[in-house]
Order: sequence, then C-alpha cells, then structure tokens
Amino acid sequence: MDDRIIDSTLKEEDIFEQNIRPASLAEYVGQKQIKENLAVFIAAAKMRNEPLDHVLLYGPPGLGKTTLAHIIANEMGSNIKTASGPAIEKSGDLAAILSTLEPGDVLFIDEIHRIPSYIEEILYPAMEDFEMDIVIGNEGKSKSIKIDLPPFTLVGATTRAGDLSSPLRDRFGIVNKLEFYSDEELRDIVIRTSKVLNMHISDEAALELAQRSRKTPRIANRLFKRVRDFALVEGDGEIDLAITLKSLDRLKVDKYGLDNIDIDYLNALITKFNGGPVGIETIATAIGEEVTTIEDIVEPFLLQEGFIKRTARGRVATEKAYKHLKIVNQGSLF
Ligand SMILES: Nc1ncnc2c1ncn2[C@@H]1O[C@H](COP(=O)(O)OP(=O)(O)OP(=O)(O)O)[C@@H](O)[C@H]1O
Ligand SMILES: [Mg+2]
Repeated sequence: MDDRIIDSTLKEEDIFEQNIRPASLAEYVGQKQIKENLAVFIAAAKMRNEPLDHVLLYGPPGLGKTTLAHIIANEMGSNIKTASGPAIEKSGDLAAILSTLEPGDVLFIDEIHRIPSYIEEILYPAMEDFEMDIVIGNEGKSKSIKIDLPPFTLVGATTRAGDLSSPLRDRFGIVNKLEFYSDEELRDIVIRTSKVLNMHISDEAALELAQRSRKTPRIANRLFKRVRDFALVEGDGEIDLAITLKSLDRLKVDKYGLDNIDIDYLNALITKFNGGPVGIETIATAIGEEVTTIEDIVEPFLLQEGFIKRTARGRVATEKAYKHLKIVNQGSLF
C-alpha cells in the first residue's frame, strides 16, 4: 500500500514518534480498564520481587500496543528487548534472542502471530519454566540439552489474536484487547502531542482532528503533524478550526475519516455487488487490495462505525454506507 495518510500500519520510528510516545501509565490516554488492571499486576509483581506475568496485547494497528509494551517495561523498571515475528525465521533466531535475556527483562515480540509454529514451540518451556531446549550436533548424533533462562516477561503484540495458536495464547497470564478510542480521548491525545511539540491547538480544532482519526491515536497524531505544516506555512502557526478544516479538505480526509480505500471498498460493495452479501476475497480482488489489508485495517473501522455488517454469507453494506455515498438503496425502497 502506498503512502496513505490514514494508514495506521506505517511504522515510522522517527524522532517524532519517540518524542510523543507516552512513557508511563499515567500519560497513556484511555484504555481505562487495561491501565487499572496493569497497575495492580505491576505493583503486585514488584511487591513479590518477581517479573510480571506474560502479557498479550491485541487489537487493530495504531491503538498503542508497542507504546504499552514500553510503558510496562518502564513501570517495572526493566530493560526492554524487542523482536519481531517475521524476522524470526529459524529456531536459532529465537534461541539467540532468548539467550541474551537478563533477570527481569521484558522481551517484546511484535507481530507474534507471524512466528512459524515449529519455532513457536521453543517459547512454551521458555514462558512456563524459564527453560530452553536446544538441539546440538547433527543428524544421528544430535542431542537435546536444557538451558536455564532468567525469569523474564514476554510481551506479545498482534493485530490478529485469532491467528495465534491456542497453546501459545494459553501461556499468557494477562491478555488485553485494545479498544478503539473515543473522540474525547483522541482530542486529549492531540492536545498532549501539541504540547510536547510546543504548538498550540484550539480545543475545537483538536476535536475535529479526533473525529476524523478512525478512533486511532496513530492517525490522530499523523493528521496533527500535517495540519501543523499547513498552520506554519499558510497560517500564523496557530492551529485553529479554520486552518484544520482547510488542511483536512486538502488531505481528502472526509468527515468520518474515510479515505480512498474505504470509499472504493464501499463503492464496490454497493455498485458491483448490490450491497452484498459478498466474500472478502471477491471485494479485495475488485478493488485491487490485499485481503489482509482489508481485514486488518479497512474492515474493523467500517464495522465499528456501522458502514458494513459481517454475515455468514459475507459482507453487507448498511443504510449508513448508502447514505454516505449518496446512493439510493433500491433494495430498501420496497
Ligand atoms: N493511549 C495512548 N495515549 C497517547 N498516545 C498514544 C496512545 N496509544 C497510542 N498512542 C500514540 O499512537 C502512536 C501509535 O501507537 P503504537 O505504535 O503503540 O501502536 P501499535 O498498536 O503498536 O500499532 P501496530 O499494530 O501498527 O504496531 C504512537 O505514536 C503513540 O504515541
Ligand atoms: Mg506496534
């Protein structure tokens, strides 16, 4: 996918991201239940002088999983080591990572569902008993030896909890599903970001950005960044509602935060497939996008906002989708 302003999957670990990332639970906006529970589990682990139980974080891209993993390490006073599922290709890759762990470390594995299952099995004894079995030697003369690992906390993140094998899922003592954010929470995130960057944004401008951010902090911050540019170049540096509306218009982000791909999706569903039901593969082909992009990024938001429904026979466009595209729903006339 090319540069999509509301793409919540882009992982630009630039200075901007580093600076605006909240570092403590207190600064982390929203996800109230998760924060309250984690605060208890972290305090208890510290009182017992033990590492925190393993944590699984799942939910759509850009909702704050990586941020939360870093916060957990901070709050525990631990070092964090990071790895990513797709980069773990051989069992040796995972063994190498595990062997660098020190007592109390947080090991953050992003996209943990992408670890191949035969490698994943190395994690089971590592998580349960802090042990690792490694096979040395070659065919015929190989033997398996056990290596002790220091107590550590595995924090796994995934956008697709359903793709995780159940033996792996069951080994996480703390499982958190991140929810989409409310407009007010996103407004607070935008205001927080503006303060970190020494810019001033009016409350109504921040709320406007929030409403167009697909309930997703990463998108809110990205839109803020672009509006900031417009305010600097075409305004006086002050971010008010007028410059915000003008910028959003120029960025082609509509009032629900839908962009070209969402509109293509809804358009295809309604005009090519009569509003559905239609299978996801069929829609993906029709609009030239990957099925995974549609499942992970496009659909969760369209479902949440009630533009589509998922039925046993496939996706269906709702009345709200017809209205938004200004197409009369022939089926509903009779
Ligand atoms: N609760 C929050 N409060 C304030 N800022 C947040 C919050 N959650 C996320 N952010 C901001 O949103 C951005 C994206 O968050 P993060 O990278 O943690 O998302 P993610 O869930 O790991 O996404 P992905 O699935 O793509 O890896 C970060 O820049 C972070 O600063
Ligand atoms: Mg992440």
